[in-house]
Amino acid sequence: MLRIALLGSTGSIGRQTIEVVRHLGPQRAQIVAMTANRSEELLREQARQLGITRVGLGVEAAIEMATAPDVDCVVVAISGTAAIRPVWHAIQAGKRIALANKEVLVTAGELIMGAVAQKGVTLVPIDSEQSALFQCLQGRRADEVARLIVTASGGPFLHTDASQIETITPEQALRHPVWNMGAKNTIDSSTLMNKGLELIEARWLFGMAPEQVSALVHPQHAVHALVELVDGSLIAQVSRQDMRLCIQYALTYPERAASPVPPFDWRGQSWQFSEPDLERFVCLRLAIEAMQMGGTMAGYMNAANEVLVERFLRREFGWLQIGRKLERLMERHQCLQGSSLEQLLEVDQQARTEAAAA
Ligand SMILES: NC(=O)c1ccc[n+]([C@@H]2O[C@H](COP(=O)([O-])OP(=O)(O)OC[C@H]3O[C@@H](n4cnc5c(N)ncnc54)[C@H](OP(=O)(O)O)[C@@H]3O)[C@@H](O)[C@H]2O)c1
Repeated sequence: MLRIALLGSTGSIGRQTIEVVRHLGPQRAQIVAMTANRSEELLREQARQLGITRVGLGVEAAIEMATAPDVDCVVVAISGTAAIRPVWHAIQAGKRIALANKEVLVTAGELIMGAVAQKGVTLVPIDSEQSALFQCLQGRRADEVARLIVTASGGPFLHTDASQIETITPEQALRHPVWNMGAKNTIDSSTLMNKGLELIEARWLFGMAPEQVSALVHPQHAVHALVELVDGSLIAQVSRQDMRLCIQYALTYPERAASPVPPFDWRGQSWQFSEPDLERFVCLRLAIEAMQMGGTMAGYMNAANEVLVERFLRREFGWLQIGRKLERLMERHQCLQGSSLEQLLEVDQQARTEAAAA
C-alpha cells in the first residue's frame, strides 16, 4: 500500500487525486497527509471526510509533510514555483515523486533531475504530455530513442486571421477548444507557451538534448505525445483527455489498474498534424530559445510570462504584447549557468519584478 502526502489537495489536480485514491481503494493507496495554501476550510473538510489528522498550509507545511517518515509517495499538485523546495526536500528524503507541477522542472530541471539520479528516487510525471511520453518510453533504452514529440491542440487562435490578432480579448483567449483549465493555463495554451514549458520539462525529465524535443499541432488532441525511435518507428499514446488517468498511472506505476475513465473511442476519428507557426506563436519560439540557452533563462521566462499573463487578463495590454514584452525582457536577462536552488529562486523573483514594470 502506497502512503501518500498530497501537496495542493484543494486544487484541480489535488481534488482529482483524492478521487483516484478513493477509486484505487485502501489496499493500494492511502492519503496520510495533505496541504493547501489559503483554502483552509476546504482542506479541513477534505481531511474530515478522509479521516486525515495531518494537514497544513503553505510551503513549510508542504516540506514537513513531504519528508514525514511514514510517507512513501509525494503527489505534487501545488501550482507555481512554490513547489520547488518541497520537491527538493522530498527527493533528499528518498520519496517517490508524482509530479503534476510544470514549473519545478522548467525552473530547476537540471538540479532536480540531478538529485533524482543521485538519490535513486522514482519521479513519475502527471502532466498529461509528460505522462504520455513516460508511457511510450517504457521498455525502451535511451540509445533507442531519437526524438520526443508533444502535441498541442493549437488553442483558439490557430487559424485566426492575422489582422484580428491585435484585438484579441481575454474572453476570446479564455475560450479553449479542448481543455477546461484555470485562466493562466488557458492563456498559456492560446499563446502555445504551455507547449514551450512542456518541451523544457520533457528535455530534463527524459534527459534529452534540446534538439531532440519538439511540438506538433494536433487539433483533435487524441494523441498526447509520440516517441520516435532510431529505426524510424513512432510510438504514440492515445487516450481520453482525463487527468485521472495520468494521476492513477503515476500512483500505480509500474503496474496498471482499471480506471474510471472509459476507453478511447477511435471510431470515426480523423486526425491532423502540422508544424507550429513560430512567427504567430512567439511564446513557443521564446521557450525553445530558452531551452537551448539553459541556465536561468527558462525559469526567468516562466516567471515573467506568469506576470505578463496576469497583466493581460487585467486588460493592461493586448494578447500579442505577451510575447513581445517577454522577448524584450529575455533579451535583457543575464543568463547564468550552473545556479544553486537559491539563485534560481532569486531569478524567479527578479523576473516577476521586471515583468510587472515592463
Ligand atoms: N489542472 C490540470 O489539468 C493540470 C494538468 C497538467 C499539469 N498541471 C499542473 O499542476 C499544477 C497544479 O495545477 P492545478 O490546476 O491543480 O492548480 P490549482 O487548481 O490552482 O491548485 C493549486 C494548489 O496548490 C496550492 N498552492 C498554490 N500556491 C501555493 C503556495 N504558495 N504554497 C503552497 N500551496 C500552494 C493551492 O492551495 P489553495 O487552494 O489553498 O490556494 C492548491 O491546492 C500546476 O503546476 C499545473 O500547471 C495541471
